[in-house]
Amino acid sequence: MRVCVIGTGYVGLVTGACLAHIGHNVICVDNNEEKVKLMKAGQSPIFEPGLSEIMQSAIQAGRIEFTTDLAAGVAHGEILFIAVGTPPLPTGESDTRYVEAVARGIGANLNGGYKVIVNKSTVPIGSGDWVRMIVLDGIAERQKTLVTAGGGVEDRLPELPQFDVVSNPEFLREGSAVYDTFNPDRIVLGGNSSRAIAMMTELYAPIVERKFAENQSLPPVPILATDLSSAEMIKYAANAFLATKISFINEVANICDRVGADVTQVAKGIGLDSRIGNKFLQAGIGWGGSCFPKDVSALIHTADDYGYEAQLLKSAVSVNERQRLIALEKLQQVLKILKGKTVGLLGLTFKPDTDDLRDAPALNLIEQLNRLGAKVKAYDPIISQTGMRHGLSGVLVETDAERLADGCDALVLVTEWNQFSTLDYAKMAQLMNNAVVIDGRNFLDPETMVRAGFQYVGVGR
Ligand code: UDX
Repeated sequence: MRVCVIGTGYVGLVTGACLAHIGHNVICVDNNEEKVKLMKAGQSPIFEPGLSEIMQSAIQAGRIEFTTDLAAGVAHGEILFIAVGTPPLPTGESDTRYVEAVARGIGANLNGGYKVIVNKSTVPIGSGDWVRMIVLDGIAERQKTLVTAGGGVEDRLPELPQFDVVSNPEFLREGSAVYDTFNPDRIVLGGNSSRAIAMMTELYAPIVERKFAENQSLPPVPILATDLSSAEMIKYAANAFLATKISFINEVANICDRVGADVTQVAKGIGLDSRIGNKFLQAGIGWGGSCFPKDVSALIHTADDYGYEAQLLKSAVSVNERQRLIALEKLQQVLKILKGKTVGLLGLTFKPDTDDLRDAPALNLIEQLNRLGAKVKAYDPIISQTGMRHGLSGVLVETDAERLADGCDALVLVTEWNQFSTLDYAKMAQLMNNAVVIDGRNFLDPETMVRAGFQYVGVGR
């Protein structure tokens, strides 16, 4: 099928590349020329395992193109994905101005033939109908320019373009985005047009049939067809539930700390109950990233708009805000005065296998440590290597873990990068003023760390 994906952030680029990989003909549109140039050369502007490989093979197979030309993309696609960002505004609402601009642009460029316009961006509930309205506005504006250009009535669009809007929320995780696209738990399609839903079902057929899945013998991926608002709500509710689940285990961890229980064992014990499940029960320094904070705030805000106070969600956020500084509390317990001390952070990104620093707990920690007069250093496998420093200040980024340890009064493991399990901790302990490690992800083995010469402090264990 012919597909156009507008916006090549995490969601857009992964969607475009994966759809090309499974055999569709894809044009990805982005207004950033530098990025388009990079992608044309088969390079991914984001660090995401496996992504550049599938981009390159799709380019070679002639199944994917990158352009800044929205009109060309719209003309090409029978299915048009809107995958631009909806960043949070200071109020907690989503900033939908990029979605609006794209919807208007689609309307202004729609040509003959039926098209499905897909909301892939996480948009506020109710946006499906709003996008339809903006597209219609875009069409009307184009009609007006055609007439005022002096062409007369015969230059008007011969007939109104036909289109439907579908909400198709994305559940991929950064760091495993390609894997998640080929191995989804479900595909959600919201809309009231059976023609549009049928086209979307055809589009995803190879994924539904698990042709590109790790385990191809599993039953087909369930497709859930819903109305527009329910599909939009599913995205928010899923993220809010997962974020709440993490805040829940973090709260249990804080109680464990006080009563002397071990939250990792507690999580195992409750996770074996199939009603609870063992995932997203990893206690630590709280959730961050580009989705959970933004989506939970947006849902609270939507509830507020409709006169409902989302108390549970507000608590999940406040538990998280506190949890993000739990490492600071523990540093103070061990080191007492932080002024004049040097703290080394192992990891900076909000999670492993990504270069994303958006809403990373490390940023709060750096700010607070600086405020208390501590010197902060960090080593992160990707940030140290790429030199990307977006949003980073008040921290000296070291090139390896041993340089980081040198002269530190404590280390804080902020991100559970795999390579942190095999560092030479005995050597690192010797390089430190004070061999203390605060394991913000309960990732290290306490006994091994003690053998290496460290005082080990976990979260709730
Ligand atoms: C999330 C959702 O998982 C995904 O479905 C959605 O499409 C986008 O948002 P992502 O933000 O990429 O994905 O990462 P995820 O792996 O979900 O982690 C989110 C945050 O929660 C991270 O800061 C992570 O460290 C934290 N986390 C996760 C925990 O603290 N404990 C856990 O058990 C799991």
